[in-house]
Amino acid sequence: MKILFIGDVVAKPGRAAVKEVLPDLIKKEKIDLVVANIENLAHGKGATGATIEEIRDAGVGIMTSGNHIWFREEITEILNNDPRILRPANYPGDAPGYGFTYVTIAKQKVLIINLIGRQWIDEPIDEPYRTIDTILLDQIDREKPSVILVDYHAEATSEKAAMAWFLDGKITALAGTHTHVPSADAQILPKGTAFVTDIGMSGALHSVLGVEPSIIIKKQKDPGPAKFEWVEDGPKVFRSVLIETKKEGRAKSIRRIDKTLP
Ligand SMILES: [Fe+2]
Ligand SMILES: [Fe+2]
Repeated sequence: MKILFIGDVVAKPGRAAVKEVLPDLIKKEKIDLVVANIENLAHGKGATGATIEEIRDAGVGIMTSGNHIWFREEITEILNNDPRILRPANYPGDAPGYGFTYVTIAKQKVLIINLIGRQWIDEPIDEPYRTIDTILLDQIDREKPSVILVDYHAEATSEKAAMAWFLDGKITALAGTHTHVPSADAQILPKGTAFVTDIGMSGALHSVLGVEPSIIIKKQKDPGPAKFEWVEDGPKVFRSVLIETKKEGRAKSIRRIDKTLP
């Protein structure tokens, strides 16, 4: 099975990059499932029904998210009604939506879990190790998934690496999101779990994590208010990792697929 994992899709340039690259890539690489993180999908802030449909039409099957998913009120209803769109599982139990979901591909059950880290993320979240332990214990016993994928949405690189080692041999792949910066460490851990610290964003190349550079410079240099403006045009990047699975639900390979578009 071939799974493509796309990181944070940021604003219009991110959606445009996905629409430009994904349909042909799915055909060329014979990809079975595409997962993308949508916390910055609509003008950098959360997601809307229309923007979700846009990238779903391009071939994204399952969507994960993170701390920025809560920006728009309409997301509550979307999350509650569509189990193909996740929010991190370690938000409080009564938070809207689902923290994990299933999709069946060629008679194989694929479990996708979304988690969020705790370092430098100021959100009401539970400890992620015990959250994932509880989910795995319950779901492996009950549903016997063939493939298990985790999007770990976290700021600290060490937090993501430690979680990947904790889950090595228990899941197929852990891909990091949230920093918007791609990491060069895609690897298979000793017990067969694929890991990358951060897939990186798909979005505007000439930006600071998707935002107009002059605004971030002003914010860091001068006191006073600075309103975030997301870059809406110019060159774009598409960033992803392609994971191929083996029979036992472990990873055969993981490699980056990155493209720069005019
Ligand atoms: Fe993000
Ligand atoms: Fe985030």
